[in-house]
Amino acid sequence: MSIKEELLATFVASDGEFISGAALAEKLGVSRNAVWKAVKALETEGFVIDSVTAKGYRLSPENDRLAPELIKPFIRAEDMGAEVIVLSETDSTNNDAKRLASGGAAHGTVVIADTQTAGKGRLGRSFISPPGTGIYMSVIVRPELDISLAPMLTSAAACAVAEAVEELCGSEVRVKWVNDLYMNGRKICGILTEASMGLEMKSLEYAVIGIGINVRSVVFDEELSRRATSIEAETGKKISRIQLCAEIINKLSEYLQKIADRSFLAEYRRRELLTGNEITAAAGSETITGKAVGIDDNANLIVELESGEVRHLGTGEANLLRIVRT
Ligand code: BTN
Repeated sequence: MSIKEELLATFVASDGEFISGAALAEKLGVSRNAVWKAVKALETEGFVIDSVTAKGYRLSPENDRLAPELIKPFIRAEDMGAEVIVLSETDSTNNDAKRLASGGAAHGTVVIADTQTAGKGRLGRSFISPPGTGIYMSVIVRPELDISLAPMLTSAAACAVAEAVEELCGSEVRVKWVNDLYMNGRKICGILTEASMGLEMKSLEYAVIGIGINVRSVVFDEELSRRATSIEAETGKKISRIQLCAEIINKLSEYLQKIADRSFLAEYRRRELLTGNEITAAAGSETITGKAVGIDDNANLIVELESGEVRHLGTGEANLLRIVRT
């Protein structure tokens, strides 16, 4: 570990208490001047550190700059988060995670970026990822799941993220089939899962679950601001991105274990917001309109057409176009 990393880890362990420069120097086995230099370097990188004469240093409660040393202490999951990589900037954390996964990175490896220059959404859309405001995170998973259950990774992840956000901000989060999280009728989070199949497409080699959350208030253009919002704009709360990253990892670990027996579906159904609405969706080359009547046991959306025909829209193939009537 570098002096900066050791300092951050020491600040977390001291739980908001000030530590004197001399005590830090002794603990880290370096000079007081080296401690001072490392503090300055961390500040230059955007970490907020309080330094008070005769008291010493501490990580400010205001600090929201992400780092593995700050996130890891909050991770309880046993199978995830042993490796957490935090980047200041990248094109897409999903690209980074896919590269790492194809090089053999372990289940539960996490890549987080403060900003993405080419964040990807579903259906070839882009995901706007401004610095210091959101969570852009990709988790490599290698679940031992029958391939038929793999499409439900995204639905289970949606439940995990919804629960984590709700626990930290106290406001209700709904899931809009298949992968969007909503607060007060507007989107706060999208999830993009990219999978790599094993030979003969019979097994899942790995999947990368990419999660993008608008945490702090963001100025969107007019068109986007009709559809998108942030946790801060909806709740007035500046929740900690550090704790939210950790809590998502904890919940993801829990919810992935609920796919094999489909037990996460009860939670998914409880949160799903299309059910009961008349919707239009693209299903392959067809556009269909009907009433969403529920979620089936494969997390597909069940739609009743005017003709009385009932269709089950697969998470991979169908795409919601709009809600016609609620
Ligand atoms: C969507 O809303 O269509 C899905 C958005 C997914 C965005 C996340 S941000 C982290 C990860 N990296 C990406 O490039 N995309 C996902």
